[in-house]
Amino acid sequence: MTATSPRLKHEVKDLALASLGRQRIEWAGREMPVLKQIRDRFAQEKPFAGIRLVACCHVTTETAHLAIALKAGGADAVLIASNPLSTQDDVAASLVVDHEIPVFAQKGEDNETYNRHVQIALDHRPNIIIDDGSDVVATLIQERQDQIADLIGTTEETTTGIVRLRAMFKDGVLTFPAMNVNDADTKHFFDNRYGTGQSTLDGIIRATNVLLAGKNIVVAGYGWCGKGTALRARGLGANVIVTEIDPIKAIEAVMDGFRVLPMAEAAPQGDLFITVTGNKHVIRAEHFDVMKDGAIVCNSGHFDIEIDLKSLKAKAKEVKQVRPFTEEYRLPSGKSVIVLGEGRLINLAAAEGHPSAVMDMSFANQALACEYLVKNKGKLEPGLHSIPTDVDQEIARLKLQAIGINIDTLTPEQIEYTNSWTSGT
Ligand SMILES: NC(=O)c1ccc[n+]([C@@H]2O[C@H](COP(=O)([O-])OP(=O)(O)OC[C@H]3O[C@@H](n4cnc5c(N)ncnc54)[C@H](O)[C@@H]3O)[C@@H](O)[C@H]2O)c1
Repeated sequence: MTATSPRLKHEVKDLALASLGRQRIEWAGREMPVLKQIRDRFAQEKPFAGIRLVACCHVTTETAHLAIALKAGGADAVLIASNPLSTQDDVAASLVVDHEIPVFAQKGEDNETYNRHVQIALDHRPNIIIDDGSDVVATLIQERQDQIADLIGTTEETTTGIVRLRAMFKDGVLTFPAMNVNDADTKHFFDNRYGTGQSTLDGIIRATNVLLAGKNIVVAGYGWCGKGTALRARGLGANVIVTEIDPIKAIEAVMDGFRVLPMAEAAPQGDLFITVTGNKHVIRAEHFDVMKDGAIVCNSGHFDIEIDLKSLKAKAKEVKQVRPFTEEYRLPSGKSVIVLGEGRLINLAAAEGHPSAVMDMSFANQALACEYLVKNKGKLEPGLHSIPTDVDQEIARLKLQAIGINIDTLTPEQIEYTNSWTSGT
């Protein structure tokens, strides 16, 4: 459907970008067969008829497919950005023009605009919230208690959002069901690991065009995102150093063949630093002081808090943009530190986020989690809920089918064996 002058409320950069967005959304769709099957079923069954839905996501070509699938299912959906730097303006324009989905998102929006968009989304009085980082849910709880009665539930995309939801539950303020999309196997095994791994390096390369082979790359955090990032950095020929605070993850990194050091020791050795911990001030003043001249630092964790940019700014004699998404901080010693993407998710700031093939599974989880909430309206306890195992398995099965890979099935003898305890040595 193409409408050239939509009367929808929206805040996007430029509706004239819609045709470019349309092309790029179509391209991404080639790698999203699972979500397409779900969309086709939603279009028949209309599970979201009468449902007001807010999606707070990175506004990318892949998110466009999620929004289109939800709308096909009958949802009255509003889309806002989950990060001020991650919006693809052409995609936002196409969603408004071609799909009549109200979008409030502009790349580079300031924090005030970002927060205003969260308020606009809540003005929609959602029955379902798809959140990425938990900003919408946190605002609902803090400022719009009266709207909680309208809410069937929420779904959460990312590790940081799950950490926040757990804290809300502990504080007794999470009084509605929240689907833990991040912890579905078909989400974090692939999105966090292979998606972040590839797209983080993609963002760094697009921002800097530096050669990674032979560089010392310090990856802070060896969780799912860190594992993928370290693996891909090594694949490009870097010497990878991992920093951790969890002794088990640290052993895992050692046995995967990486050097493991505290940040204080890694700081003078690194040429490039990537934080993916979900934690605060992992790189801070004392680390900047000992870095090599020209060391590059960036973040791929959810919030822009992992690098203590405030203290770097306070130290710097001069800050200048040297390339798009690349700023040089000149220190009084004469050395400089290069910061990418203002310390925000570099894969979304300087590149296009995860490849569509992994988001196919993440967003299949999101779409099915929303359907699950609607089907189980009023039956789910408040708090976090896992994606049902059969849904996770079904997404994996559909993905394998779509990429033409067959696997074995258990024989009756194997089923009997795996269910019994009597046969041993
Ligand atoms: N860039 C993206 O597109 C993208 C995608 C998925 C998740 N994320 C975000 O990336 C972050 C990490 O996600 P994850 O799924 O890998 O989480 P995770 O919990 O699997 O891993 C985080 C790791 O960081 C370690 N850590 C914590 N504090 C540390 C510190 N001070 N120094 C060193 N290590 C520390 C933890 O021990 C843990 O092993 C989260 O903020 C998540 O929301 C980003």
